[in-house]
Amino acid sequence: MPHSDRMTDYVETNRRNWDERAAIHARDITGTYLLDRFRAGEDALHAIEAAELGDISGKRVLHLQCHIGRDTLCLARRGPAVTGLDFSSAALNAARRLSEETGLKADFVEGTVYQAQLLTPGPFDLVFTTWGTICWLPDLKSWANVVASVLAPGGELYFADGHPGFSVLEECDGRLVPTYDFQTPADRPLQFADETTYTGDPTVLSHQSTHEWIHSLSAVLGALIDAGLMITMFHEHEVLPWQGLGCLLPTADGLWRLPDGMPRIPLSYSVRAKKVRANKEASESQVLHR
Ligand SMILES: C[S@@+](CC[C@H](N)C(=O)[O-])C[C@H]1O[C@@H](n2cnc3c(N)ncnc32)[C@H](O)[C@@H]1O
Repeated sequence: MPHSDRMTDYVETNRRNWDERAAIHARDITGTYLLDRFRAGEDALHAIEAAELGDISGKRVLHLQCHIGRDTLCLARRGPAVTGLDFSSAALNAARRLSEETGLKADFVEGTVYQAQLLTPGPFDLVFTTWGTICWLPDLKSWANVVASVLAPGGELYFADGHPGFSVLEECDGRLVPTYDFQTPADRPLQFADETTYTGDPTVLSHQSTHEWIHSLSAVLGALIDAGLMITMFHEHEVLPWQGLGCLLPTADGLWRLPDGMPRIPLSYSVRAKKVRANKEASESQVLHR
């Protein structure tokens, strides 16, 4: 199969999986997404991004891979004009419902990240994308070019996600074992098949297969620099918003940490990057691939 057909196939497989998961997450019977508390007015951003985001009121914000829109609407509460983009129609249906229920306004656009330049050309002052996003993308050069292409001059990316030093690990007989390469080749994704989604909802998925990629720090930061962005903040964190390993313990502010006595490793990281020069590749390309 040609490379581009294989990539489309990966995206379609992942989309089928996400359409099913999104409907389950929107029901939130396990309370993982804290949707009732969000509807009641509580902020659902995690402590990391809430502390690092700064004042975004009056800005134009693009939330990439916005899922069921909860975080998009948390951003909207802070006063900017927000657009959320995701490739899952089920996720966007849930996002629009949540918007109606809460009266919080956001535009929701269906498309892949690589189509963002065409579908939501901006310009935006902030691109926000966090927690479980780039692991679904084979090609970070295109991702960074998309981000650069939709940002206004001086605009910023805020990005936070699992650290590759954590993503390579599996837990085996109580020990953390490096199991995966720290950089997954675009054409050889990791393949998983999980019966249920990660929230603990027992609904068995019909579309269990996913294709995922671990991206090294140099792949992320290098792609952003090459796309014309200047890294203005890089933090590594000993906590993670989800229980990514069985041994992790909950923190008082709803995150997860390694038990005391284990060597400290970064579980997540966050980046701010500012558009300081025009990105030739991004402005010339129509970013047509999926
Ligand atoms: C773990 S969720 C991100 C959750 C995010 N932290 C939030 O709630 O705002 C991953 C999202 O990425 C979306 N996604 C995966 N691959 C994508 C792609 N290639 N283009 C656009 N969206 C994609 C999925 O539909 C899903 O909603």
